[in-house]
Amino acid sequence: MVLPAVVVCGGCQGPQSALSPAGEGAEQIAALFWAMAIGAGMIWLIVIGLAVYVLRIAPYPHDTRSSRQWVIGGGVVVPTLLLTILLMFGLAILPALVRPAPGGSLHVEAVGVRWWWRIIYPTPDGGSFELANEVRLPAGEPVQFDLRSADVIHGFWIPSLGGKVDMIPGRQTRLTLWPTTVGTYRGVCAEYCGASHAKMAFDVVVMPRAEFDTWLRQQAQDAVDPSGSEARRGSEVFLKSGCGACHSVRGTPADGSIAPDLTHLGSRRSLAAGSLENSPDNLRRWITDPQSIKPMAVMPGFHTLSDADLASLIAYLQGLE
Ligand code: CUA
Repeated sequence: MVLPAVVVCGGCQGPQSALSPAGEGAEQIAALFWAMAIGAGMIWLIVIGLAVYVLRIAPYPHDTRSSRQWVIGGGVVVPTLLLTILLMFGLAILPALVRPAPGGSLHVEAVGVRWWWRIIYPTPDGGSFELANEVRLPAGEPVQFDLRSADVIHGFWIPSLGGKVDMIPGRQTRLTLWPTTVGTYRGVCAEYCGASHAKMAFDVVVMPRAEFDTWLRQQAQDAVDPSGSEARRGSEVFLKSGCGACHSVRGTPADGSIAPDLTHLGSRRSLAAGSLENSPDNLRRWITDPQSIKPMAVMPGFHTLSDADLASLIAYLQGLE
């Protein structure tokens, strides 16, 4: 009994669990899940009880009229009633999840790209800036996500905070979340979108408002100048190798827009859309052979870089905090 319980409940915790809610939408969804699970368990017990009764306790022909009542009652009336109640309960939750956030709420734009996330934040002066694969939110406030896709259908889902909404090419969809608990969570793509669908995740950090404001101000700034000769050399390797044709590092000549913005790469928790922890070794693995980490990733492997160039490049990128 203990082992199955541990195995089953082990999946309920962690940064990517709809059963460990840290936001209002997720709380309602978890409540719906538990109502359904408990209800289904009770119905299962009743059905098994009846089966045991007719097979073991009373294994003789039963009165036709009462048998018919059991079939109509248990097979038509009760399921129709229960499913109607469940449907009403589920539909009552839905509007809050897709309703626009109250005026003045934070709006974040998220674009699904095979296989990463373009995240666009507004700045107080009416402008905006971009980052990738990381979302930070102030705790206790609603936030509206405006969702788009750059290619195929993706599904934007942060299980700990709320429901999921598809990102559909040519359309804008919307998801309103209301994170309540400070913490670090994981978002994923919930719609199969090709070879590296399972490698399309992002970090979600819910923080107190003041910390969030500091973070936002810092992220809105241009990249810091490389400090030290190694990093300075790395910035030259970066430009010389053509990285800037696809990636942007704001405040430098690198202004490519088809790949993730790297302006503050060093401050991010993970690399390659949640596939790797952000460390120099993992950055080396990613730059030299991205396909081994994310099959069919668009980025070419830069295995022709010398060890010295690679070391400088990593020093530069890790310094972009
Ligand atoms: Cu994007 Cu699955």
